[in-house]
Amino acid sequence: MRVLSGIQPTGRFHWGNYFGAIRQYIDLQFEDAAFYFIADLHALNSVRDPAALRGWTLDAAIDLLALGLDPERAVLFVQSDVPAVSELCWILMTGAPMGLLERCHAYKDKKAKGQPADAGVFAYPVLMAADILAYDSDTVPVGEDQVQHIEVCRDLAASFNHQFGQVFTMPKAKLLDASKKVPGTDGEKMSKSYNNTLEVFEDPKAQRKKIMRIVTDSRAMDEPKEPEGDYLYQLFSLVATEAERDAMAALYRRGGFGYGEVKKALADAAGHFFAEPRAKRAELAADPKRIREILDDGAARARRKAEEVLQRAKRACGLA
Ligand code: TRP
Repeated sequence: MRVLSGIQPTGRFHWGNYFGAIRQYIDLQFEDAAFYFIADLHALNSVRDPAALRGWTLDAAIDLLALGLDPERAVLFVQSDVPAVSELCWILMTGAPMGLLERCHAYKDKKAKGQPADAGVFAYPVLMAADILAYDSDTVPVGEDQVQHIEVCRDLAASFNHQFGQVFTMPKAKLLDASKKVPGTDGEKMSKSYNNTLEVFEDPKAQRKKIMRIVTDSRAMDEPKEPEGDYLYQLFSLVATEAERDAMAALYRRGGFGYGEVKKALADAAGHFFAEPRAKRAELAADPKRIREILDDGAARARRKAEEVLQRAKRACGLA
């Protein structure tokens, strides 16, 4: 079984990215053959600053490795290092119904907001299909918002197979654990577009300040409170040890202390939780040659597989 997923380098990773997805990808590397890539071609749709795109792509690689992605177990690569995927994307573009793509949310949302959409956004799910099919992927772990795109991928694969013979492996979406959704510093879902994020590798001092500024409800803390519904507690639970979490829950239920204490505990726990990855990240960042080697090696392995599938597709439809 092969697991594959992609992550767009559109900024630095935040807790929502980590707990909602990255940690789950990393866990999967122990179960199956895993291919993980940094989707720079997809990011080009929104990142139009070359230095930023280059920087975030490299940062994403370093962050993933620092967080435990093991390049001996999982194949880690950059999407654009595998040109066969772009070629396969074109092949899939022929035969991709306009109506199917018009219903996809990235494009539909833009149109609904009256924003101009380009062909890259429109064809986004086709490139994603090429990503998936190029590696004979069986399982694609994704968030809820990407399930529609996996359906498109399956439609395109089925219709190609129907016309040209059994070429593509049918992938299945594997929904990431949604209970791991992370609230932002305002209680809404953590998201860059809401400007409510805590970054994984933020400077600890800056992050502590950010945490201390979190706006809480005005209810006096002397009143007992149910911890589960409180987003400060929810954030704390993500990074605290079990014993710390239980103690904090007991404090909430007892009452008689301030949110300031919770915030301090949150900043401390976050510092501990990410201390090891932070040290590892510093080590990796100091060795860009090693990062390049890991990505080159990943790309070579990914290219080998993608070339094989591309040749199969080309032969089937009369291009070879
Ligand atoms: N579109 C995905 C996202 O924004 C990233 C992605 C690109 C991807 N290609 C993929 C995910 C292939 C899974 C499989 O999250």
